Amino acid sequence: MKLSKRVESLPPYLFVEIIKKIAEKKARGEEVISFAIGDPDFPTPPHIIERLCQAAQDPANHRYPESDSLPELRRAVADWYQRRFGISFDPDKEVLPLIGSKEGIAHIAFCFIDSDDIVLVPDPGYPVYSVSTMLANGEPYYLPLREEEDFLPNLNTIPDHILKKAKLLWLNYPNNPTSAVADLDFFNEVVKFAKHHDLVVCHDGPYTEVAFDDYQPVSFMQADGAREVGVEFHSLSKTYNMTGWRIGMAVGNATAIDALKRLKSNLDSGIPQAIQYAAIEALTASQDCIQEHNAIYQRRRDLIVEMLNSIGLKARPPKASLYIWARVPEGYTSMDFTTDLLEKVGVAITPGIGYGKNGEGYVRLSLTIPDASLVKGLSRLSGWRSTRRRLVKE
Ligand SMILES: Cc1ncc(COP(=O)(O)O)c(C=O)c1O
Repeated sequence: MKLSKRVESLPPYLFVEIIKKIAEKKARGEEVISFAIGDPDFPTPPHIIERLCQAAQDPANHRYPESDSLPELRRAVADWYQRRFGISFDPDKEVLPLIGSKEGIAHIAFCFIDSDDIVLVPDPGYPVYSVSTMLANGEPYYLPLREEEDFLPNLNTIPDHILKKAKLLWLNYPNNPTSAVADLDFFNEVVKFAKHHDLVVCHDGPYTEVAFDDYQPVSFMQADGAREVGVEFHSLSKTYNMTGWRIGMAVGNATAIDALKRLKSNLDSGIPQAIQYAAIEALTASQDCIQEHNAIYQRRRDLIVEMLNSIGLKARPPKASLYIWARVPEGYTSMDFTTDLLEKVGVAITPGIGYGKNGEGYVRLSLTIPDASLVKGLSRLSGWRSTRRRLVKE
């Protein structure tokens, strides 16, 4: 069977090698403690599940949903943005629910990219931005995110010949994997830059609600003129522990939202309606669960950062996101260090190189590790220090 060049050229899944090694360890009966995956370990809050079960019992929700979703859901999204960020959106023209934000992030490339168009993509970054670009026959141009620049892209260094062909700019704050945050000044500059160079800005913001120490991330859509140049993707996955239900949304520029709606109506048949009702419940009911979970993530963050620094990694406590982005000890690549931890002490983390060339020298640890495993994981990390000392002595 001959596959398309498009599929043949897909890069291997980021964690393939690590997953293979973990599986081998488990097959030998060894327990692996994983800090690798950014999937909340708490269940979806009970009031959301109750609404889902109730809606699942209603035959009206057993049929095809509308591809642009229930008007009540679009309204709930608009109201949520108004309450959280003080921005108003027209629920009919500026809001589009998605089958998880990843789905919309992947599909929007097909709305804007023709052959050989360039897409500006952060490096390190969530791999879907570049993969979807390539699937749409576009070409990613990588914007390095450097620690000395607070992991914000330096837009002024993009060469003119690239900007001439560039159609779309991806941004993601609070950032995966670096956990960096952006402020409104930065986003205001981005809007000016996008207007000047006729770029569509796609801001991916699934982590705006996972924040610590009273820090409140901003939305790109709060920037002056943001709605003229772009859209924001958001998700219920991390905010309400709903990764398994697959629901997110895009908000912003009406032309972009309409294009995505048109594309999607030809590809999928919408979000199962019971899940839409669960999402309405999540967005409109008490938001207390967010603070409760953030308090737990914050405690874990502090324990992990302290341990990492004590064994020779350089890690700073993030203000937001589910991740700690730490510099590996000297003498290791991110892959060497990840492999060493896995083999010596059975701890899985994610090598920074998996997120792009500029992720080299770093590893990512996720805060979504249940407390019991966290305690074991920390003790194993501490044990790794002694394996290292032994090696140094030998
Ligand atoms: C930066 C980023 N964007 C988007 C997503 C996708 O989230 P969703 O579950 O809404 O598809 C993730 C998931 O990990 C992510 O890290």
